[in-house]
Amino acid sequence: MTAARPPRLADFDLARWMSQRLDSVESALGRWVGPAGSLPPSLAEPMRYAVLDGGKRLRPLLVLAACEAVQGHEAAALRAACAVELIHAYSLVHDDMPCMDNDVLRRGKPTVHVQFGQASAMLAGDALQALAFELLTPDDAEVPPPVQAQLCRMLARAAGGQGMAGGQAIDLAHVGQRIDALQLHEMHRLKTGALLLASVQMGAVCGQPDAQAMAALSEYGRTVGLAFQVVDDILDVTADSHTLGKTAGKDAAQDKPTFVSLMGLRQSQNYAQELLSQAQASLRQSGLSETRALQALADKLVNRAF
Ligand code: IPE
Ligand code: IPE
Ligand code: MG
Ligand code: MG
Ligand code: MG
Repeated sequence: MTAARPPRLADFDLARWMSQRLDSVESALGRWVGPAGSLPPSLAEPMRYAVLDGGKRLRPLLVLAACEAVQGHEAAALRAACAVELIHAYSLVHDDMPCMDNDVLRRGKPTVHVQFGQASAMLAGDALQALAFELLTPDDAEVPPPVQAQLCRMLARAAGGQGMAGGQAIDLAHVGQRIDALQLHEMHRLKTGALLLASVQMGAVCGQPDAQAMAALSEYGRTVGLAFQVVDDILDVTADSHTLGKTAGKDAAQDKPTFVSLMGLRQSQNYAQELLSQAQASLRQSGLSETRALQALADKLVNRAF
């Protein structure tokens, strides 16, 4: 296996790279989510509230970075980036509802059900999920049909019972219970990891990576996906609600199984750093020459403050 020379991360301006990509993601989401006049306002408003004006957009950035690493199809990647964000935003709307985590603050604003009522929150989530797949299947030739099908398959698997929804079910079923490390890994792999892995893989299939590159990118996606939720568990304990834009301390208050409750804070922090090193090692095995954005994003995602 050829190990590519590690690209020089010091030369890479992540802030600049992100700001350019975030501009295109924000403007595409603004155009595609609940455009004026096309939906009942009582649905368009909570949809736009849930998606626009907030969120770190880490999943879209991973899609775009993976696509760039394989020199893939940019228009397809922008659609995939927005589709993943819509599934993520819908999952947050439902996650916050009283029947799930019962949260009142999200992305620094009142949660969707607090602002618009539970029925609107449920419907906005439903409509965002459908819109994600609509974005992946444009009726012009912008995205080749085989790529459309592949993107839909990946996103459906990551969002459904074998992914986010399945993980959320395990999460809710284990409130107040102790679970072992294996079960906790499985829960995190599904509820959060699946969508992050799909972000990387969807970006990758916008190009034509060889088997070595695809395997390495997938390993990177799996590792950063797990690291992401480990850090989310850590921040729930170490950060404050203002910084997080969501209520801190909820996991302990609701007796949720988390990495912090399983292995303690210090060990969880060490574990997140270990996963980061593994993710960077996977990129070095990819044989791809331009992985600096992926490297820098992994670092940002693990060492984030919110
Ligand atoms: C929060 O995700 C929910 C989890 C899956 C842990 P993010 O931390 O990516 O939330 P936003 O999109 O930035 O609001
Ligand atoms: C939620 O995990 C993951 C989702 C699928 C939405 P959390 O319940 O830990 O997410 P936060 O902490 O509310 O953002
Ligand atoms: Mg939850
Ligand atoms: Mg929650
Ligand atoms: Mg959390």
